[in-house]
Amino acid sequence: MNADPEVREHLGDLLTREQSDASVSRFQADFDQRGYGWWAVEVQATGEFIGFAGLDDVDDDMPFTGVEIGWRLARSAWGQGYATEGALTVLAHGFGALELPEILAVTTATNLRSQAVMRRIGMTRNPADDFDDPTEPEGALRPNVLYRISRSART
Ligand SMILES: CC(C)(COP(=O)(O)OP(=O)(O)OC[C@H]1O[C@@H](n2cnc3c(N)ncnc32)[C@H](O)[C@@H]1OP(=O)(O)O)[C@@H](O)C(=O)NCCC(=O)NCCS
Repeated sequence: MNADPEVREHLGDLLTREQSDASVSRFQADFDQRGYGWWAVEVQATGEFIGFAGLDDVDDDMPFTGVEIGWRLARSAWGQGYATEGALTVLAHGFGALELPEILAVTTATNLRSQAVMRRIGMTRNPADDFDDPTEPEGALRPNVLYRISRSART
């Protein structure tokens, strides 16, 4: 998944096996340390691993702070509603057990599939929140959009 150019189109460089494994180790450490992070996503009927979804602290480099929701699926699992189903579970956990007041979502302006998931789960975008990712050089990965949903909007 992390070595698939289609999956990585809006994320940046392809990852090597070592880089991908290291990111999973970081996911596990984050969970242990703060109690939330990235969950593995499996197809309920078969147990097949198809990607991940979860919550993370917004990067320090970004021009805002908060907790963001995200998702990444293997290409073969797109187009079946799995990302939206997983995202709704993550939102319920974030607003329920974690009692977060607001959850953010960030992606490149060109990542229309990810933005469609954001809208499907009830998140909204204010164009005034659009920003350039300061960690990216000029190019397709730099213009980003920010979606938000508040706990009060869900209850
Ligand atoms: C972003 C990403 C997770 C979206 O996946 P997705 O499968 O398009 O999203 P959903 O789970 O919401 O599925 C929606 C599609 O499934 C279809 N679908 C089929 N059966 C469905 C069902 N039972 N229930 C709901 N939707 C269903 C919908 O009609 C929709 O189809 P469409 O794309 O033709 O409009 C995926 O493209 C991905 O992993 N991209 C690479 C990584 C990435 O960019 N991550 C985000 C970084 S911010």
